[in-house]
Amino acid sequence: MAGDKKLIIGNWKMNLGVHESSLHLHKLADSVKTHRNVEVVLAPTMLALQTLSLQVNHRQFKLAAQNFYWRDHGAYTGEVSATQLRGIVSYGLVGHSERRHVFHESDKDTRAKVQAAIRNGIRPVLCVGETASERAAGETRDVLHDQLIGGLANITSDELPEVIVAYEPVWAIGTGNNALPTDVTEAIVSIRSQLKHLYGAKAANAVQVLYGGSVTADSAADYLALHEVDGLLVGGASLDAHAFTTIVEKAFQSAKGDA
Ligand code: 13P
Repeated sequence: MAGDKKLIIGNWKMNLGVHESSLHLHKLADSVKTHRNVEVVLAPTMLALQTLSLQVNHRQFKLAAQNFYWRDHGAYTGEVSATQLRGIVSYGLVGHSERRHVFHESDKDTRAKVQAAIRNGIRPVLCVGETASERAAGETRDVLHDQLIGGLANITSDELPEVIVAYEPVWAIGTGNNALPTDVTEAIVSIRSQLKHLYGAKAANAVQVLYGGSVTADSAADYLALHEVDGLLVGGASLDAHAFTTIVEKAFQSAKGDA
């Protein structure tokens, strides 16, 4: 694992309007404790980012964009750039499986976005993961390899520690069919060894690697207990203030154990 700090990201996806997002933030602000060893990041709808950035206690929560375009400015109707998100978010998701599979984002897109995030002082969270059929065909390792190489091709070893990798097997997202801890360990060991191969041990060991896919308040501790896992990317359970608060507490307990 990288460092002694756990990272918990709540991806609200296309849920909650601006007002509801503010209310959810208020609830979380009341219940989530601030811990030195846990960084808690919220990824609301793009529409609510500005409002939440004014309301949020930045010591308690950081904000993330769920998506952004890789060019900085210009005639790109409907897009929002990392440059425009500068100062509002600290993190940006890149290559989430829903972006890859619903919106057909390619490795070329993820590569440009990872680079745009770094260029704009935003930490990219590069999501990688195999589909059920790729897994059944024994292709998991190759898929992870291609998505890592594809997403990181323009990144130097000096920049690499700014990147976070999230292992999100597509078959585990939103299905309740969460990966077994042994599967997660195997995949993250493979991710880390590919990073070492590309960048050397020092830079690779500095990269935080998260797990995401049907994480609940009940299953969170099993993943956080794994030495390879530096945190969690939580979808559905991040919309439930009680569940998300419990997940942050589990992260605190596991970070304490590592310290
Ligand atoms: P769920 O936790 O709802 O499976 O979503 C995971 C995810 O996609 C987080 O980005």
